Amino acid sequence: MEFANRLQPLCANVFADMDRAKTQAKMRGKKIIDLSLGSSDLPAAEDTIVAIENSLHDGTTHGYLLHNGTKAFRHAAAKWYTDRFGISIDPETEVLQLIGSQEGTAHLPLAILNPRDFALVLDPGYPSHAGGVYLAGGQIYPMPLLAENQFLPILTDIPDSVLTQAKMMVLSYPHNPTTAIAPLSFLQEAVAFCRQHNLVLVHDFPYVDIVFDNREKPSSILQADPHKEISIEFFTMSKSYNMGGFRVGYAIGNSDLIKALRQIKAVVDFNQYLGILNGAITALSGSQEMVEKTVAIFQARRDAFITALNKIGWQVPKPEATMYIWAKLPEPWHHNSIDFCTKLVAQTGVAVSPGAGFGKAGEGYVRFALVKEPEILELAAEKISVFLQSNTTQR
Ligand SMILES: Cc1ncc(COP(=O)(O)O)c(C=O)c1O
Repeated sequence: MEFANRLQPLCANVFADMDRAKTQAKMRGKKIIDLSLGSSDLPAAEDTIVAIENSLHDGTTHGYLLHNGTKAFRHAAAKWYTDRFGISIDPETEVLQLIGSQEGTAHLPLAILNPRDFALVLDPGYPSHAGGVYLAGGQIYPMPLLAENQFLPILTDIPDSVLTQAKMMVLSYPHNPTTAIAPLSFLQEAVAFCRQHNLVLVHDFPYVDIVFDNREKPSSILQADPHKEISIEFFTMSKSYNMGGFRVGYAIGNSDLIKALRQIKAVVDFNQYLGILNGAITALSGSQEMVEKTVAIFQARRDAFITALNKIGWQVPKPEATMYIWAKLPEPWHHNSIDFCTKLVAQTGVAVSPGAGFGKAGEGYVRFALVKEPEILELAAEKISVFLQSNTTQR
């Protein structure tokens, strides 16, 4: 059978390969400690679940949900945003409900790119950012993120030949996988740059709440573009509210971009189930105590795992945000993160994500997701230590 060319770049998927390696290790009797997926192991809040449960028993929530039906959700999202960032939002024109942030970021390029147009994306970066560009027939210009630049892209390095053909830039801070936080000054620089080069500026913002040590909360892209001239920001209920499986998120920003994304989505879906939106409204509008508890849990896990890695001789920087550790691989693995990850899971059952899976500039790193209790993370570190010792002497 012959398939469209656009399928080609989507076929090579390191994460699918890792999934196979995990399954094989399990079949050989290994107990898997899965630190490869950024899927929270914590439950959603009780009042969120009750709101969804009550909706389930209300037959009027069971039908298709058109735009008008998502009004209460749009209002809750707009209010949450204004309370947090002090920027007023029109819930009718500047908010769009999504079936997760991934869905929105993957669909948006269809509304912006013509075939062969460039999108500037972070490397390493979240796979749906590049995936959506491929679906739209666009070209990727990867902006490398290096430790010596605090994992921020150097905008002046982007060649003019690319910029003349570019239509959008995708940023995402606090950043998955490097855990970097972008200061407001960088976001302002990005807004000025995108305005100068007529680029739409997309900011994927799932880790808005997941910052540690009482650090100042990260900035929204609309603080850098308060008149919403060129920017759109993506939010998810998956991280702050542990609702990843429920698939709900939203976009906020420039009304033309929101309208264009809505037009794409109108062909594809009928919005999320109203009961889940009711749960999300409860989460956004109620006490945010549960968010604080979630952050405290990830902070404690971060501390336990960093200490355990240091103890086995693997020095990694302490992240200030997100639910990940981005660790530079020791020799002899520093050029082959995929080899490291497939062998590690085969020999020890510990599954982590190879940096190369997030882009070329991610090579030489691995990402640990802090999605297990501290004791399990410590056990994983012990297993990694045995693996490193035996494999270093073997090679
Ligand atoms: C940068 C980034 N964007 C989007 C997502 C997915 O969000 P959602 O569950 O809302 O699709 C993730 C999940 O890990 C992420 O790290």
